[in-house]
Amino acid sequence: MKNKLCEMFGIDVPIFAFSHCRDVIVEVSKAGGMGVLGMARMDPERLEEELNWIDDHIDGKPYGIDVLMSGNVKDSGNLKYEPEKLLPKEQVEFVRKMLDDAGVPPLPEAEEETIRRDIVKGMNFTPRESLDMIDRAMSHPIKLIVNALGTPPAQLIETAHSKGIKVAALAGKPKHAIKHKEAGCDFVIAVGTEAGGHTGEISSLVLWPSIVDAVDPMPVLGGGGVGRGRQLAAALSLGCEGVWCGSIWLKTAQSEVPPEIKQKMFEAEANDAILTRSVTGKPCRTLNNKFSQAWNAPGAPECLPAPLQNYLWWQEGRSRVERVRAKDFLTYPVGQIVGEMNEETSVKEVVYDFINELLESKERMDRMLSE
Ligand SMILES: Cc1cc2nc3c(=O)[nH]c(=O)nc-3n(C[C@H](O)[C@H](O)[C@H](O)COP(=O)(O)O)c2cc1C
Repeated sequence: MKNKLCEMFGIDVPIFAFSHCRDVIVEVSKAGGMGVLGMARMDPERLEEELNWIDDHIDGKPYGIDVLMSGNVKDSGNLKYEPEKLLPKEQVEFVRKMLDDAGVPPLPEAEEETIRRDIVKGMNFTPRESLDMIDRAMSHPIKLIVNALGTPPAQLIETAHSKGIKVAALAGKPKHAIKHKEAGCDFVIAVGTEAGGHTGEISSLVLWPSIVDAVDPMPVLGGGGVGRGRQLAAALSLGCEGVWCGSIWLKTAQSEVPPEIKQKMFEAEANDAILTRSVTGKPCRTLNNKFSQAWNAPGAPECLPAPLQNYLWWQEGRSRVERVRAKDFLTYPVGQIVGEMNEETSVKEVVYDFINELLESKERMDRMLSE
């Protein structure tokens, strides 16, 4: 395709794939799109390993990185390794009792410390931690840096540009997109409420054209609810230059999702992708599960602000739940297209289906308009 973003990165199709999984990144970029690696759950050593692996396997195709950097997340420094000092007793007890009552065993005493430390090591989303990770990533041939939770700092944009790296940021409202444009971003990603992960309240159908108009002539990617060619056609029709997708890759053979969670996704309907603060402290769309439901029940304590709720979920909840694969509590960020994710396919098939269905949509529209 010929458009601003294809030209900016030298890619064939404007399908941008957000994923935490290096195999997905490599497969999408090799299929003609653009893989963007989510670094939010990595520690610096793991990041180095992943980027080296990508560099060795991607055949020189372009790829990017993504950070969850929020200016208003409090930096707890090394205290994050001491949950008893950081997390209020009431919320910790609430989670422990919930899992005890459900028969989910506690972590074995001998392994507890290591499991918790390993989890926390990979949580790097304060500005200080994110900038350190980005700095390391810049020694690799990355072509794009995306920030999820706000306008990237001016210094970061300047440094990236001096190295020929483009910068973009997610927006859930036109005013956020305008801020990104004014700060010097190269394009913005308009993410509708249908999306998996952190998201706002406005639907893609309403949000995309309003952001396209707000930042014109800057290119916009449409994200939130895109998993097939008809949705790509809709994004292009609404003025976007391409799409930004996260959920659809979770169903692929290459994805990092454990089989039990993948199976839950295959069985889920669109409204099983619920918006909750229970996993990160910010509104995040995730697969419905008993943990999230418990926070809505009468008498439940308040969810903690980010990033504390995230530490709580991972250290007290997810670590226990995933160890024994406690099905009712298993969850994963996923968007409303989960209702259409019914079987495993490969990344390449997803990309080719996107293109075929886009062409079918165009032919259908052409036929209607010529009659
Ligand atoms: C499993 C998962 C994890 C996510 N984690 C992040 C993240 O770390 N950083 C980020 O910018 N967006 C993250 N997102 C959101 C995506 O960037 C994107 O906005 C969203 O997936 C688009 O909507 P879709 O899920 O309908 O494709 C995540 C999404 C999913 C599904």
